[in-house]
Amino acid sequence: MSLKPAVIAGIGSYVPERVLSNEDLEQIVDTTDEWIVSHTGIKERRIASDDQATSDLAIEASRAALEDAGMSADDLDFVLCPTVTPDHLFPSTANLVQAGLGAHNDMAAFDLLSGCTGFVYGLHVARQFIATGEMEAVLVVASEKLTSITDWTDRSTCVLFGDGAGAAIVTAGEGEPSEKGLIGFVVESYGEHGHLLDVPAGGSRRPLDAEGLANHENCLHMNGPEVFKLAVRGVPEVAEKAIARAGMTNSDIDWVIMHQANLRIIDAAARRLDIPDERMIVNVQKFGNTSGASTAIALDEAYRDGRLQPGDNILLVGFGAGFSLGAGVLRWGL
Ligand code: UT7
Repeated sequence: MSLKPAVIAGIGSYVPERVLSNEDLEQIVDTTDEWIVSHTGIKERRIASDDQATSDLAIEASRAALEDAGMSADDLDFVLCPTVTPDHLFPSTANLVQAGLGAHNDMAAFDLLSGCTGFVYGLHVARQFIATGEMEAVLVVASEKLTSITDWTDRSTCVLFGDGAGAAIVTAGEGEPSEKGLIGFVVESYGEHGHLLDVPAGGSRRPLDAEGLANHENCLHMNGPEVFKLAVRGVPEVAEKAIARAGMTNSDIDWVIMHQANLRIIDAAARRLDIPDERMIVNVQKFGNTSGASTAIALDEAYRDGRLQPGDNILLVGFGAGFSLGAGVLRWGL
């Protein structure tokens, strides 16, 4: 079977209007702007309103991506929604996005749970359906309302996260799959480290009860220093594998977009990969950690401000809950 190149036909993103600054957080927990900036690089993040759920953010980003692609929701064959903060356990957020976009019913729709690697995993999955010719257009929309699972009494986590969504429409291109679009992808799972970053209660292992609620076990818990060590080691390794799978070397990469969790992790990985600062796309200072949506939001920002040029090779790297790792090289806009 001859495979088709999977290309990005359009992208879009959405972040809520409300800004929560480090100074605002100083009023909520025992922290300082100086600590947050020096430990993470984050200055502010966006917070969804009470009546905005993850699917609402996703629909906004998806509409922007469809408009960018010049397509309608009825052109889609599949809505794939990477998220760790679904509107409900079920129905899937992807089903709600399909309905919210007013798209026809003759399509696949499901969520994908791979933490902060969400958008990278999502592109990898979309690519399979496009490459084989099974589908013609896949919407990958990574969306998170992390503030819905934030423990606002825990200063070690509540300063890190923000809400937002990023979307891409993946379609089939002409020519060689090794030369355009989503070229080389690698995804990995280190499930033995899953306990380092989790929501302890509310699932079948530990249904939420009064004690769990009192202990905020329905919220995100993280062993930050251990996750930090895994990320600093794992990110350059998975990035190198994806670059090799794309048949490239580090010097072929024009732009790097890493999961926007922490500027120190991004800087350390850039040094290990020998990528100069001017080729790193970074917006963690404005939006904090938006989990699986962060690489999509940064990609869209760089596209809209004119940094990305046709033919540029872009390396995307994700890491997070699972513990999951993933990286992919995409060639922009040919
Ligand atoms: O997106 C999924 C992947 N997640 C990540 O990539 C996160 C990875 N981890 C990290 O980015 C870092 O571990 C953090 C930013 C979460 C924390 O930075 P750290 O340098 O590892 O700090 P730490 O947890 O070792 O804490 C150092 C100190 C502690 O005080 P003591 O015990 O030394 O007195 C903490 O209690 O900083 C204290 N601390 C704070 N102080 C002021 C922790 N959070 C805060 C805070 N404000 N918000």
